[in-house]
Amino acid sequence: MNVIVVNNYARVSEEVAKIIRNQLKAKPSSVLGLATGSSPLGVYDLLREYYQKGLDFSCATTFNLDEYVGLEPDHPASYHYYMQKNLFSKVNLNPERTFIPKGTAPDLAEECRRYEELIQRAGGLDLQILGIGTNGHIGFNEPGCNFGSRTRVVSLSASTLRDNARFFATEKEVPAQAVSMGIKTIMHAKNIVLLANGGCKAEAVRGAVRGPVTENLPASVLQLHPAVTVVVDQAAAGKL
Ligand code: GLP
Repeated sequence: MNVIVVNNYARVSEEVAKIIRNQLKAKPSSVLGLATGSSPLGVYDLLREYYQKGLDFSCATTFNLDEYVGLEPDHPASYHYYMQKNLFSKVNLNPERTFIPKGTAPDLAEECRRYEELIQRAGGLDLQILGIGTNGHIGFNEPGCNFGSRTRVVSLSASTLRDNARFFATEKEVPAQAVSMGIKTIMHAKNIVLLANGGCKAEAVRGAVRGPVTENLPASVLQLHPAVTVVVDQAAAGKL
């Protein structure tokens, strides 16, 4: 694992955005795995800026990690909405090649199978971007999840429901389930970048980087991947 500790959130965003820019420059048809949540917002700000300055996204393909079950794409807390707002509507990605699991698909098991197939047909993920939950989750792979898992329907843990309540009017509105890429799906990416900022992530980051590899802290599986970069600010690195 390559661990990069920088001063603040702006620098975290810059490091990660530059990695994505280099990936796209080296291989314009890259397959990118994208994340949501508050952590990558700064990265998307910079990608919009790079696009204005000429970075070309037109040949890339993107796959998002996850989506809430039951939220329509136009729901303001859905990850479809988030991606449209923060990236897809602002850069020249081809809408036919931006994929997010459909949380309202009538047959969710079929949707999960379809999603895995799409990733494989695209040639696999070249670069996967990850945030991390305060409980060490990646995507929505919660503590106790199986390291052999593929895209599937998962139940959100109590701590994630609490953490994500800030994106909804009340905690009761947070969907109890999500469709998430599995740990195995993520681990098949050629390169992985995990970003985190703030003291509330310090314990999870410590577990991911230094702790035992355990399904109780899903991000710890990244220690077994040959090409992982962890970009954290001082606060998130506080327990390393
Ligand atoms: C969310 C997402 C994850 C994200 C994590 C951290 O629930 N499913 O992909 O990395 O939790 O979120 P944040 O960046 O808002 O702290």
